[in-house]
Amino acid sequence: QPTLAQVDPLGFWAVSRYADVLHVLKNPQLFSSTGHRGPAEPEWLGRSNPFADSMVMQDPPQHTRLRALVNRAFGPTALSRMEPRIRAYAEQAAAELTLGRPVDFVEAFALRVPASVIGELLGLDASLHPRFKRWADDINNTSSTPPDAHEWHAQIRGTYAEMEQYLKEVIAERRRSPREDMVSELLAARIEGEALTDAELLGFLFLLLVAGLETTIHLLGHSALVLAERPDVFARVRADRSLVPRFIEEVLRYEPVAQTLMRLTTAETELCGVRLPAGSHVMLLLGSACRDEAQFPNSERFDLDREGPSNMPFGHGIHFCLGAPLARMEARLALNALLDRCGGLVRDATPVQWHASIVVRGPTVLPLT
Ligand code: HEM
Repeated sequence: QPTLAQVDPLGFWAVSRYADVLHVLKNPQLFSSTGHRGPAEPEWLGRSNPFADSMVMQDPPQHTRLRALVNRAFGPTALSRMEPRIRAYAEQAAAELTLGRPVDFVEAFALRVPASVIGELLGLDASLHPRFKRWADDINNTSSTPPDAHEWHAQIRGTYAEMEQYLKEVIAERRRSPREDMVSELLAARIEGEALTDAELLGFLFLLLVAGLETTIHLLGHSALVLAERPDVFARVRADRSLVPRFIEEVLRYEPVAQTLMRLTTAETELCGVRLPAGSHVMLLLGSACRDEAQFPNSERFDLDREGPSNMPFGHGIHFCLGAPLARMEARLALNALLDRCGGLVRDATPVQWHASIVVRGPTVLPLT
């Protein structure tokens, strides 16, 4: 099995083994996050993606500065402040979930907690929650929309304008009258006397919507599917709630939501015995790394007793997911609330629908009873 393969005609190198993926992520000076091909900005968009300037597409020193400015908003103090509200969202969503008849679990449950959390982080009015799922979907679809889909293009362009206008108003409003929320905190944050510019803050808010919503919805969808397909796992986790965090770690490894990451080589280098010139596109197959036998024996098995968390589903190194503790907390609270109210999940005969993307993987429609 080759560990490094050139994928034509797209012209990038795909890295599949755990150790090699880790090597790339540990060496950001050689494997840059800037200037690679994803997320693509098609011409019809007629503008640049605000998150193309956000931290996930930056190298040091810009990345270091941006990350330092927002780190605290996702640290332990901020998380414990958010926890009671997230628990309340989770309990309400579980109370309103009526199983026993067929439901789409994504719509009826998985979407609700992450949408409320992101809505609150972005300072979005609750009445807008149904709308910004469409915002996130449209932005995620930007690079996979066919070049001749004119109506769809118009909708996506409209979405960017709508989001930008809304988020700019939120920023201006918090600047006038700060509240106890993330946007106000980020406006006040300083590193060596320097603040985020409005454009940087806007880019970060766009990034949060794309990076933090769909991913957590998919984590909850995968979790429900694993529980529905393995009644023994359901019974064990329901009876012993101390297993919930371990269950989440194994779902993250077994069904990694982020399937691929892109990097661009800054100098000639050797990877898995192959010489790559400067400017080579490298695609990291996180989905494959998380099923690497050398790292995870019996990797094709969902194993609740597997030792230790694997952080690989959240990346590694300087770009390690800023929202990982938040995503883990959301999943823990949501699954506990679900297990409190629900004695079992059953797969419906209707097929599961999957997100059509090589970047993220998860159910978009999950029929359960
Ligand atoms: C970065 C996965 C949830 C915010 C990343 C990266 C991965 C990832 C793999 C690394 C990107 C790279 O190296 O290029 C996930 C998964 C999630 C999740 C699997 C849920 C299951 C969240 C949430 C938030 C968030 C809830 C915030 C609300 C971010 C940000 C970055 C990031 C801001 C960029 C960090 C940087 O460039 O330094 N995420 N994420 N993520 N994630 Fe997440």
